[in-house]
Amino acid sequence: MAEQLLKVNKVDAGYRRGAHAIRDINLGLHAGDALGVVGMNGAGKSTLMATIAGRLVPENGTVELEGRDLGRMSPDRRARQGLVLLPEGHQVIGALTVEQNLLVASGARTFRGARRRLAAVADLVYGLFPILADRADQLAGLMSGGEQQMLSIGRALVTGPRLLLLDEPSLGLAPAVVDRIYDALTDLRREQLSLVVVEQNDTRLRNLCNKIVVLNSGVVTLSAATEDTDKDAIRRAYFGASHLPGDAVLASHEAEGDSHVQG
Ligand SMILES: Nc1ncnc2c1ncn2[C@@H]1O[C@H](COP(=O)(O)OP(=O)(O)OP(=O)(O)O)[C@@H](O)[C@H]1O
Ligand SMILES: [Mg+2]
Repeated sequence: MAEQLLKVNKVDAGYRRGAHAIRDINLGLHAGDALGVVGMNGAGKSTLMATIAGRLVPENGTVELEGRDLGRMSPDRRARQGLVLLPEGHQVIGALTVEQNLLVASGARTFRGARRRLAAVADLVYGLFPILADRADQLAGLMSGGEQQMLSIGRALVTGPRLLLLDEPSLGLAPAVVDRIYDALTDLRREQLSLVVVEQNDTRLRNLCNKIVVLNSGVVTLSAATEDTDKDAIRRAYFGASHLPGDAVLASHEAEGDSHVQG
């Protein structure tokens, strides 16, 4: 089998020595895969993304890109290798225009270099999100949350990622806008971009991703090909079925209106 693009191997990581927010995490991704990571508040999803992106150094275990241990490599250097994180929240510079945001994100040292890099991906970015072309000269800070999220994704694309990590791209957005973001992610998959997408809710991930991982209290409680799992299995893993007395508890979550994993 072809070498994995990303491999996370027995990773423990956290914010204080010995206190691991994520424990014994193993996952793998081939080029072209989309991996969905689901879990409730505090499950460790962002910690996992930060560890893969190099913002956090694991206390144990390794993160490998194409078989190479990334060790303490900085997030910037990882991004230059094509491993790019889009963190939670909108990553735009409000005082710059849409186009300036894209130029700055290219990371080129000269204006001409930035123009060249943007030109190379302009069809892709503006094709995914035509509104960014329409609003090219508008200040990013004046755009809606959904438009800012589209620009954030555009900024990540200008860097030329091979593997894009997205941390809760739907956070705070109206369902119709989330649909558009996910349509764009589906198009990017067709362009052979590999994805890791974190959400609290599995509904959209099950359509986008060919692999699903559920995190609960810092550990993987389910890891499967999407086609081999279903809503129910995900729900059990999400609430940590092994710690619960049974369906009565799940039912009570639903009665409280907890809609995180409902389709
Ligand atoms: N900077 C930090 N310093 C200390 N502890 C942190 C820090 N960030 C997160 N934690 C803790 O690590 C655990 C995992 O948090 P993490 O942010 O990874 O969860 P999450 O799954 O991304 O949650 P959410 O859905 O709310 O974004 C939590 O217990 C959290 O309180
Ligand atoms: Mg998070």
